[in-house]
Amino acid sequence: MNVGLNDQQLSELLATWPVDHAALSVDVDHVNHHYGTGEMRKQVLFDNVLKILPGEIVIMTGPSGSGKTTLLTLIGTLRSVQEGSLKVLGQELLGITPTSTTELRKRIGFIFQAHNLFESLTAFQNIRMATELLGIPDDQANARIEATLRRLGLGARIHYRPKALSGGQKQRVAVARGLIHEPGLILADEPTAALDAESGREVVTIFQELAREKQCTIVIVTHDNRILDVADRIVSMVDGRIVTNVLVRRNALLSQFLTQIELFKVLSTTVLSKIADRFDLRKFAVGSEIIQQGGVGREFFVIGAGSVAIEIDGRQVNTLEQGSFFGEMALIRDQPRNATVRALTPVSCFVLEKDDFQTVVQSSSSFEEELRKAIFNRQ
Ligand SMILES: Nc1ncnc2c1ncn2[C@@H]1O[C@H](COP(=O)(O)OP(=O)(O)OP(=O)(O)O)[C@@H](O)[C@H]1O
Ligand SMILES: [Mg+2]
Repeated sequence: MNVGLNDQQLSELLATWPVDHAALSVDVDHVNHHYGTGEMRKQVLFDNVLKILPGEIVIMTGPSGSGKTTLLTLIGTLRSVQEGSLKVLGQELLGITPTSTTELRKRIGFIFQAHNLFESLTAFQNIRMATELLGIPDDQANARIEATLRRLGLGARIHYRPKALSGGQKQRVAVARGLIHEPGLILADEPTAALDAESGREVVTIFQELAREKQCTIVIVTHDNRILDVADRIVSMVDGRIVTNVLVRRNALLSQFLTQIELFKVLSTTVLSKIADRFDLRKFAVGSEIIQQGGVGREFFVIGAGSVAIEIDGRQVNTLEQGSFFGEMALIRDQPRNATVRALTPVSCFVLEKDDFQTVVQSSSSFEEELRKAIFNRQ
């Protein structure tokens, strides 16, 4: 009955759901945007909604002109929000004052396509200028700048001017400058485009460490397929609209254990991934009935945290710990539950509803076929 996810994977999964009242790092709510005025006025963002948790790494993709940079610059307070609500690190940007904008920008790290280094200043001085603007004291700044440049493989280039650096090296200086104040939010537009595979990997590894260690939220616009694996969430835009928004890390972990369960085993990865997308998190207090013997089964449960008792006719016959699952037959059969399941501790479950399961079934013609085969083979 165990789904083969270890405790660390389970807690990683749990962390992909917002804790109650958790502050979102970025909360884009029905945001529209227009460029130009009068007859030249043109809408480029349409009703975008995007919610990002602290510590999440989000990769944003989409064709040229789809609005990625526009959305990123709105989040970064580099453009004014016109319609909708956009909250960044708890601050509403619609109607924000210039003073609040200045304060908020100190908590954001920008790494943009055009790296904008000053040609007359060395790598070190370029970053030093940023630390001065940010008000970081000199003694702290110097050590930090050297360490960051070294970490990005520029130890031997600290005192070079941009004209003596390659495109990739200049880009790395820009990356170092964007990270130097350990911001709560990093916005990066094609940060690896000018880099070879190795330096690109180095940059995203640093992003991952910041996300893990400092709960830094990172939004990366990229066409670079080589770095997709670092994403917790992949968002794609087309014609000014977010058309897909997938929690890839959650999806991968859920799909991984679904493949170990008889009912899901034979399904294709595409279908499994669609099913994984439909899971929700539900919490139960000690003593509460999660399912009731004789009741109609409408959900399938995986225990993410805690333990439960299985009771038949009022008698406890077994217990299940986190990492176990129950109730899967409800997804395919209309039969009453054959046992009661009760929370022995506070319990968090990943729950898949029959209706959601059926929706995926109906939208995937090959799926029904696979399922029929699966059930047939079991009997
Ligand atoms: N300053 C501006 N004034 C007017 N129109 C603009 C401006 N900036 C962008 N646009 C238009 O807005 C739309 C979205 O542009 P945006 O730069 O956000 O796209 P993008 O997804 O970042 O594209 P790319 O992948 O090429 O960087 C495009 O149609 C573009 O022509
Ligand atoms: Mg762009």
